[in-house]
Amino acid sequence: MSGTATLTLRVREAEMIAPLLKRFVLESADRAPLPSIGAGAHLRLLLKEGQKKFRNAYSIAATAPDNSAYEIIVRRVAHSRGGSAFLHDHVDAGAIVEADFPGNLFPISHVARKHLLISGGIGITPFLGYLAYLKTTPAPFELHHFCRVEETETFERALRGYDAGKIHLHPELAQFDLIDMLRKQPLGTHLYVCGPEGLMNMVLAAARSHGWPGSKLHSESFGGAHAGGAPFVAILERSGLEIHVPEDQTLLEAIEAAGLEPPCLCRGGACGQCQTDVIEGEPEHRDHYLNAAEHAENRSMIICVSRAKGDRIVLDL
Ligand code: FES
Repeated sequence: MSGTATLTLRVREAEMIAPLLKRFVLESADRAPLPSIGAGAHLRLLLKEGQKKFRNAYSIAATAPDNSAYEIIVRRVAHSRGGSAFLHDHVDAGAIVEADFPGNLFPISHVARKHLLISGGIGITPFLGYLAYLKTTPAPFELHHFCRVEETETFERALRGYDAGKIHLHPELAQFDLIDMLRKQPLGTHLYVCGPEGLMNMVLAAARSHGWPGSKLHSESFGGAHAGGAPFVAILERSGLEIHVPEDQTLLEAIEAAGLEPPCLCRGGACGQCQTDVIEGEPEHRDHYLNAAEHAENRSMIICVSRAKGDRIVLDL
């Protein structure tokens, strides 16, 4: 298996664990051990449905002790035109799927004096990997997980077996005093956030406004960002293509539908893989990757989430 650019995986198990959540256990098709990974690693699946191709990344929630399998959990995204609906509807035990070798853009800090983990919904998955690692170290931690009331039991089950005194499930965000919790943290605490865009923005903004330095803030987002907006035309100068981006499609999706495969990973505006230079026109920035100065310069944009402000934008692609 080593020496190839991708992994060929067989679905060992597939089961619905909640109405919108499907759990997959993936093993190497030739039963060889899978690459060792660190806490927070992700797997990008390369899926094909007819002419359509999907490349979706999922956090690895667990690894089998003998490295024979990875576990991922996939939420069916509302109005999904992509991988999550395909995985829910067409991928079951015995299916073969291709994946890139695992990567890790959300590693746990090894210098943190305490780990403060905040997740929402399916954003718990990288933290399941963290919890397995934290079981093996004396580093203190605290996990706060926000979930829909109807999914509370599912997440309680997933978190069973870890230190219950350090794990807090919150079906109601409104009753949570975020500022108080941030204030109480000892010096040297690192904060990690993963979940819906609104939760991530709120937590990171609160931490920054209370003096947390950027070096102690970590976040990861996979897809789910607000995609829609006014339609516009993107001119891909190097490819000689004119792409019409409708109101319900992202710029990246429209470019992929035209047959191009620009680099991408999270599809949620967080990893920076899809950063593309802007030749003409003004982007409407919606990402978490570029900083305020880069947004103001408008020299590049994150095409998985950002759109054009006017009706036309020219990209170096
Ligand atoms: S794919 Fe990660 S920021 Fe666009």
